[in-house]
Amino acid sequence: MYVCLCHGVTDRDIREAAANGCNSVRQLGKEMGVGRQCGRCASMAREILRESQQTDYFELAGMLAHPA
Ligand code: FES
Repeated sequence: MYVCLCHGVTDRDIREAAANGCNSVRQLGKEMGVGRQCGRCASMAREILRESQQTDYFELAGMLAHPA
């Protein structure tokens, strides 16, 4: 789904950016323009970043608990 209509950024784009090390809306703004025009997308983008970071944490915890 589109999160930032002004710049055509989707939730998938934000998750991908988070997986590549992006950890703030400010950084998303610099890289993709998120939140830089009307600003309506900022809170949703922040929530998606937060979810992505929690998912990464749980995946890491799972890998540590069950090493291959
Ligand atoms: S919707 Fe993202 S800046 Fe307008």
